[in-house]
Amino acid sequence: MDAVVRPETHLPVYASPEEVVANLEPSYPVFCVRRHHIRAVAKQFREGFPGDVLYAVKCNPEPHMLKTLFDAGIRHFDTASLAEVARVAEQLPGATSYFMHPVKSRAAIRSAYEVYGVRHYVVDHATELEKIAETIPRGRETVIVVRVAIHYEGAVYELSSKFGAPVAEAIALGKSALALGYRYGVAFHVGSQCLDGEGFVEGLQLADEVTRGIGADPACIDVGGGFPGEYMNSRGQEMESYFSAIRAGLSDLSLPGDCSIMCEPGRALCVDGESLITQVHLRKADALYLNDGMYGSFIEEKYNLHLPVRPVAMRGFSEAHQEYTLYGPTCDSLDIFPRTVRLPEDLKEGDWLEFDRIGAYGAACRTHFNGFFPDTFVDVTSNFGES
Ligand SMILES: Cc1ncc(COP(=O)(O)O)c(C=O)c1O
Repeated sequence: MDAVVRPETHLPVYASPEEVVANLEPSYPVFCVRRHHIRAVAKQFREGFPGDVLYAVKCNPEPHMLKTLFDAGIRHFDTASLAEVARVAEQLPGATSYFMHPVKSRAAIRSAYEVYGVRHYVVDHATELEKIAETIPRGRETVIVVRVAIHYEGAVYELSSKFGAPVAEAIALGKSALALGYRYGVAFHVGSQCLDGEGFVEGLQLADEVTRGIGADPACIDVGGGFPGEYMNSRGQEMESYFSAIRAGLSDLSLPGDCSIMCEPGRALCVDGESLITQVHLRKADALYLNDGMYGSFIEEKYNLHLPVRPVAMRGFSEAHQEYTLYGPTCDSLDIFPRTVRLPEDLKEGDWLEFDRIGAYGAACRTHFNGFFPDTFVDVTSNFGES
């Protein structure tokens, strides 16, 4: 067997962002990883969710994130691509991947099955199921997870216009999976940043309609992701209220004892696990030009989720505050924060700002546009705003 190169998960440790800046004086963005937050929310999910917690790798696939979650007891991973399946297998022997993207290439399905032993595949269309049946063996060890569409208005990002079958089609898909010799499960995704638990209850009712329509016991029910993070302008409810809504929703279903209950959280597990130190590279009147922006780590700001921000306390700042326009570092005029931000009036070139709650989809969605690629990670033991 070839040697497996273990990705680096050990990071330099600092007590605070102030200590990071004092040591590195970084002119490049620096992610501050707060593993204590990641561990705490993993524990909350493992204790509160009534089933298996699959981490949605797409949300933050960095080696330190996978390792911290694995060490915190997360053993199941929702993977969207063969690259993610491989990453989990190489870094975390003993972990189980589930192929949860409804559209997969034949090559990816074959490798996932033959090389990595993946046994759960999501479908939302008959041709995807045909593709799977033509690519991997038929048999009860494989579970075809039928994704049913749910249009829930209480989520900030809806996903069902792109994915998910209507109930009647989901029933037909489940019956076909059984006829082909597979077991079946049912999945839904209420949408990302779901602001209350009601969507999960509605999703479970749809799952119930699907299993009743199929008329056979499911191998799994997967309630998807959507558990929220806490942003300045968007916050959900206590995580426990989602778990209790799901427990209540499940109690209305008559499921066999060996049916696995699963969820696929991304955002909620990692949002608080990273902040980002950026530097002001130019001030022009009320505009600050930063070293990271819309093509870098700030996709959530781009889509209007507001991150908490503070100046890193390397000097004293004026008590008076003002509104600033924030620009990112690329030559594109679209590289601008869609909102203004209130900060001390005496900010100047060379100052550093720390943005919190960037752990979800921040590092995952950054690009190399214009040669800027934020890729420095350190461990920080303080909480945001406590230096
Ligand atoms: C299939 C699937 N599962 C899980 C997730 C994670 O969602 P969230 O980060 O909202 O928990 C996503 C996000 O797009 C997804 O598409």
